[in-house]
Amino acid sequence: MKLLGVTLLVATCAVVESSRVLMVLPLGSRSHKNIMTPLASELGKRGHQVTVASLHEGPVNSTSLSYTDLAATQAWDTVRKVTGDYNVFKMRAQAGGGDKVNSAVMRKVLKHLPEYCDAFLRDPALQSAWVNKPDLILLPAFMNECGLALVYKFKVPFIYVTTSGLTPWTADLLGNPENPAYIPNQYLSYGSHMTLWQRTVNTLVRIVSPYLRERLVLNKLEGVVQQWLGNKSVSLSQVEKDVSLVLVNSHHSLGVGRPLMPNVVEVGAMHCRPAKPLQDKQLKNFLDKSTTPVIYFSLGSSIRSEQMPEEIKAILVRAFARLPYRVVWKLEGKRLPGLTSNVLTREWLPQQDILGHKNVKAFMTHGGLLSLQESVYHGVPMVGMPLMSDQHLNVRQAVTLGLALELTPETMTEDQLVQVLTDIVENPKYRDNVEERSMILADQETSPLDRAVYWSEYVLRHKGAKHLRSEAASMPMHQYLLLDVMAVITLSIVAILMTVYFIMKKITHIAMAYFKRTASHMLAMTLMHEKSN
Ligand SMILES: *[C@@H]1O[C@H](CO)[C@@H](O)[C@H](O)[C@H]1NC(C)=O
Ligand SMILES: *[C@@H]1O[C@H](CO)[C@@H](O)[C@H](O)[C@H]1NC(C)=O
Repeated sequence: MKLLGVTLLVATCAVVESSRVLMVLPLGSRSHKNIMTPLASELGKRGHQVTVASLHEGPVNSTSLSYTDLAATQAWDTVRKVTGDYNVFKMRAQAGGGDKVNSAVMRKVLKHLPEYCDAFLRDPALQSAWVNKPDLILLPAFMNECGLALVYKFKVPFIYVTTSGLTPWTADLLGNPENPAYIPNQYLSYGSHMTLWQRTVNTLVRIVSPYLRERLVLNKLEGVVQQWLGNKSVSLSQVEKDVSLVLVNSHHSLGVGRPLMPNVVEVGAMHCRPAKPLQDKQLKNFLDKSTTPVIYFSLGSSIRSEQMPEEIKAILVRAFARLPYRVVWKLEGKRLPGLTSNVLTREWLPQQDILGHKNVKAFMTHGGLLSLQESVYHGVPMVGMPLMSDQHLNVRQAVTLGLALELTPETMTEDQLVQVLTDIVENPKYRDNVEERSMILADQETSPLDRAVYWSEYVLRHKGAKHLRSEAASMPMHQYLLLDVMAVITLSIVAILMTVYFIMKKITHIAMAYFKRTASHMLAMTLMHEKSN
């Protein structure tokens, strides 16, 4: 009887606690989805009905999903058709290399953003998402604002998830302090220690970027969303203001500390997990049996190293041949001619299982945030080859922390590559630094994934988190920056100084007049005195 009671109680709790969670990713690469899937799995295991709607089908080779995966494959076809060949190396060459590629990529994406959004909203694979009302929606914070259409339709609490740190406009949305004196903008690739000129540029970008984002992203998407919902008065910036909290894909142990509001929760590295045994027999042997250190080389889930210009590929092939190490390379297409037997290539690789392998001593990476987090988590020093977006900033940060060395693919030489890789593998300094960071990253009160689960359920329990909102979120800029207060203080000081000045002037005047009178009197007296003598 008692047992039955307990069972019933547990069952009731499970029913009460089971909620519908919808994760919407209208745009973004597979790696953006990879940030969300561990949370989706975990919430699914805890009895919630989780649906993930994105452009990409499930995680690679996973059969045991604890959530429903909706892949908008038609929208994905549209994205690929509209954007055309997405070759970051070509774009870098056209843009003149370096950091300039970011604005080129941004322009390309921004131009087509409304088309992407329209295709996503219309995709037949998402039909069930439009009829089953969720209790909570999770949405990536940037370029994915299209998903606010679902938030508006269902009028349910929603959480923003940032895929790369906290952006200025998301900070503003919650009134989170973001001082440009020491918090560099993601697209400027400055470190946290900036020169006067850098701080000036950083401050201007900090002030201007929220307006640019509103004009170039929100306003453009608004038309599409209005049309889809059949209501011309829907305002995305209004919908967005109701955000319950933000899960940020960063962690202070991987960078620098900064102030965060209670509704800004750092969950960086929540997708990191211990390595699993390798399934691929040949790969497993290649790693297990290696008597020399192994270097792992991958440019991430969306950049294909196959697209590298021939000269760069040739340099890599020759440099790898000279190294006394083994190399595992995520390389699509045919095996390159001249590639030596110490190099194993695969179209796709289980990155965390490789990074966690005891023989892997260096990671040659494009510096994507997830790769960087995984490398620190598994304690592997890096050679960063940043290509676009926040990769430059990520790599610079890793270099500053002594976890990595940086290379520019277009300008590196064979000797330089050999020397940098040898240095990273042989110099214990990098390994020590990365192991220290790894320990700091692991030393947390709660795990990032537990925090993400807790705060998602928190918003579910309280049907939002309005009580966490800071007054700063709704303050006009002049009040937030205390400009009005400074004006009052400045005016008061001026008034006091002027009053003092006039009083002093008056006193001086009276004193002078008195002195003149006295002086002339004394002079007359003296003269009289002299005369009488
Ligand atoms: C994953 O799937 C691909 C394609 O189906 C296959 O070639 C590959 O061997 C699989 N990898 C693993 C680790 O199962
Ligand atoms: C259109 O949107 C506005 C603003 O959200 C709302 O007040 C109004 O009721 C909506 N109209 C219809 C017909 O749904």
